[in-house]
Amino acid sequence: MTSQAVPAPGPTTAGALDDTPSWTLAEPGPFGVLLTPAEPGTPVTAVPVPWLRDLARRHHLVALRGFTAPADAAALDAYARTWGELMEWPFGTVFDVRAHQDPEDHVFDTGFMPLHWDGMYVEHVPEFQIFHCVEAPGAAEGGGTLFCDTTRVLADADPATLERWSGLTLRYRNTKVSHYGGLVVSPLIEPHPDAGFPVMRFLEPVPDGEHIINEPDVGIDGLEGAAEAAELAAIRDAAYDPRHCHVHAWQQDDIVIADNYTLLHTRVPYRRGLPRHLRRVHVLGDPPLRSHIHDQQAADTRRGNA
Ligand SMILES: [Fe+2]
Repeated sequence: MTSQAVPAPGPTTAGALDDTPSWTLAEPGPFGVLLTPAEPGTPVTAVPVPWLRDLARRHHLVALRGFTAPADAAALDAYARTWGELMEWPFGTVFDVRAHQDPEDHVFDTGFMPLHWDGMYVEHVPEFQIFHCVEAPGAAEGGGTLFCDTTRVLADADPATLERWSGLTLRYRNTKVSHYGGLVVSPLIEPHPDAGFPVMRFLEPVPDGEHIINEPDVGIDGLEGAAEAAELAAIRDAAYDPRHCHVHAWQQDDIVIADNYTLLHTRVPYRRGLPRHLRRVHVLGDPPLRSHIHDQQAADTRRGNA
């Protein structure tokens, strides 16, 4: 992974002129930016949220490394509230992303996880995910989060493929065993709710040979058999093209903001027993974006996951 410094607008320039903290921006992958403070340990709260929000909307992925992160879940909740309204789940606003001893769902496992977007199975889809890495495995041990920039997938699709994909509606079904589940019927391509550019919504079917707990059922309306399988494989292959993906390899106290309207994401498998603990909060758009849930088996969730 190479890192190339790019000029940082606004706050960095201002930081050179007075005593406000400053930071540098790098582009570690095909999309997204990495912020590091000039003064290690600068509180993440020192970075102006309107500027960060604009950065997240333009680059879709913002990682902050070397800052002092919110000390605990309550502090992360308080920080995230400076971004906007938070999604409330049955467990609250802060989700502990970590493996369970006997996982009831693949979300709490360490192996393969399908690419997806958060909130697809509940009433609202959050605009941003804010993650804080509490503990991470070693850099070479997996456990990163892979993000797919769907604007790049669509920009690189040939016109015939794009025309075909534009007419597709997908149907997703998951049994609710933890905090999400139901039936979702969603176009493959739809406009970004605020910016209007086309984005792709896709929950990847589990490939042959992989087995996960609580596997989703994925289908394309009007297609079946080999034709459906071939189209799902074509979408999947385009999503995982290295030109469209970036793996964030976690380091302790990383803060990552992801544009959930535009990106898809999944976990890179890692060995059970290794330390990996992320805290995650969902920030709703303004107004909150309604999902494509049709039959929510989660009547107990208020605006609230996957
Ligand atoms: Fe997720």
